[in-house]
Amino acid sequence: MSTLEYNELTMEHFENPRNVGVVKDGNGYGKIGEPGCGDICEITVRIENNIIEDIKFRVYGCAGAIATSSVVTEIAKGKSMDLALQLNDDDVVDYLGGLPEGKKHCSLLAIKAMQQAIYDYLLNKRLAQEGQISTRTQFDRLAEETLQEILRRAQSKE
Ligand code: FES
Repeated sequence: MSTLEYNELTMEHFENPRNVGVVKDGNGYGKIGEPGCGDICEITVRIENNIIEDIKFRVYGCAGAIATSSVVTEIAKGKSMDLALQLNDDDVVDYLGGLPEGKKHCSLLAIKAMQQAIYDYLLNKRLAQEGQISTRTQFDRLAEETLQEILRRAQSKE
């Protein structure tokens, strides 16, 4: 398969991507950029009773990134978090019946963004259970403060 040849199924997912957008009442968020090409994938999920009830994506990127994000969301929807976390780039490439040379990395974008969204959900849930937060806004603020603290500590060591 040459660099520019996507197969029929990949083109179909590129032209008619499934699960595009942002989940209404989502409870997990992930965003990943690929420094090499500049593509970005954002995923939102709504998880209930350990099941991914809804998942949507938005991509700024190539045809491969769009098609593979569509596939990742299609596979993960309705699955348990555990199963979704086991998904890897080979599964996505196999599902599509192959990707052109140099395009395999595209499938990692959505996988990583989905993992991040699930971890975001889990952390949010844990902090809520511990009584440290009660709203999404509090969680976002805490996450931001934690990030700033890590940056401060890293800078003070320089
Ligand atoms: S070329 Fe980078 S995600 Fe497709």
